[in-house]
Amino acid sequence: MDKKSMLYDLIEEYKLKHKKSAEIFEKASLYQIKGGSHNLRLFEPFPFYDVWCSGSKVLDVDGNTYVDFWQGHFANILGHNPKIVLDVLIDYFKEGQGLTTGFPGEYQKEFAELILQQLDADKIRFTTSGTLATMYAIMLAKAYTKRTLVMKVGGGWHGAQPYALKGISVYDNGMENLESAGLPPGVDSMIIMTRFNDSEDLEAKFRQYGEEVACFILEPFIGAGGFIFSHKDYLQKARELTQQYNTQLIFDEVVSGFRFHPGGLQSLYRIKPDLTVLGKAIGGGLPLSAVAGREDVMALCGPDAKMGQKVKFDGGTFSAHPASMLAGLTYIKYLIEHESEIYPRIGRLGAEVRKRIEEIFTEFGFNVKCTGYGNSVTKNSSLVGVQFLHEKIERIISPEQVWNPEVCDFEIREKIFKLAMLEEGFNIFHGYGGISAAHTEEEIQSSLDAVEKIARKWKLQI
Ligand SMILES: Cc1ncc(COP(=O)(O)O)c(C=O)c1O
Repeated sequence: MDKKSMLYDLIEEYKLKHKKSAEIFEKASLYQIKGGSHNLRLFEPFPFYDVWCSGSKVLDVDGNTYVDFWQGHFANILGHNPKIVLDVLIDYFKEGQGLTTGFPGEYQKEFAELILQQLDADKIRFTTSGTLATMYAIMLAKAYTKRTLVMKVGGGWHGAQPYALKGISVYDNGMENLESAGLPPGVDSMIIMTRFNDSEDLEAKFRQYGEEVACFILEPFIGAGGFIFSHKDYLQKARELTQQYNTQLIFDEVVSGFRFHPGGLQSLYRIKPDLTVLGKAIGGGLPLSAVAGREDVMALCGPDAKMGQKVKFDGGTFSAHPASMLAGLTYIKYLIEHESEIYPRIGRLGAEVRKRIEEIFTEFGFNVKCTGYGNSVTKNSSLVGVQFLHEKIERIISPEQVWNPEVCDFEIREKIFKLAMLEEGFNIFHGYGGISAAHTEEEIQSSLDAVEKIARKWKLQI
């Protein structure tokens, strides 16, 4: 059976089980482009609409339940709607509080102090999304250095903001493409691309452009680029070069911030950037993000900054929203207090899943490799990617491999395997996704049984 027929059959099965979702989608599409507001949520043929999410589980309008490994774009390290956060929010709302006020609120100071202690940074400012926070961090770096160029890695995703929409997921003999229309003129030549985990390329790019580069922004664990950790010597090289060329080093820890350690990956690698961007888990399930870093750089968004260097990172009707402050504070405190239980467990589960998935597919004759492997610094990780390969490769080591259609089969991963796992009761993303503290060992084992069932079936079909 070819891929087209497999996909066709899976779509037909999916439609049978999702009749109410189909109706909602049809109506939603009258009012919204493709029936929604975030393309990643709108998979083919249409998304299921959830009515209840708790812990590891999701229930949809048609009565289907799924064990969910998408977990709110991987933000939900404690699973969906954790009671510890709901309880404090319910009390807060019962007191008649929690909606926006336009005042700083009582929790902001405590939360700022807590995050700064975790990162060992000087100052922090909160905003509402990872996208805004990376944009502000880059603006701060440009203002501080009085330079214009931004360096980023191929496969790096920093949200849809003008300074980072190049070299994200389009592979074209490398990752150098501007990936959005509507950007300011000249932005293409303003963004310098370098290869992730490639110290030689980084050195060469710094030799060529270093004196004009305002910042080097990267994810120490590349998320959308394929779930790959930085090598320690690569991050060290990045730190050395940015210091040598007076360039700001920005760690985008929107994904990695609280996923592997409450102090971010920087605390595990013991490498301090000039600026850090946090998002996703920091809000405990509510919209929140932050830029934290050096006092002299952060000061440029304050009222006392010199005109000409002052950065307009000073708005945001909903920045530091009172409910997000309380939810985030509660969540991050919990992660810190339970660090020794949570992180080793979800990391171990991730390692087991990677090992078994590779074994299963190998047993049935498929070329499949997982990503999310730890290294000497990080050991294990709770984020698991699964890549379906066109030919045998020992290990996926770069975003270029993940996005090169001649290396990895995107259609099998994001369409066929996705629908096949949904059919078995598991909602996956990037081939598997994020293991949260709410997932049980039994659920993980059942997900592996489902993978085995699918691999066995494919073996007979192909
Ligand atoms: C590493 C990274 N940076 C920035 C962003 C943008 O964050 P947001 O979606 O909150 O705007 C994302 C989102 O997935 C991300 O993964």
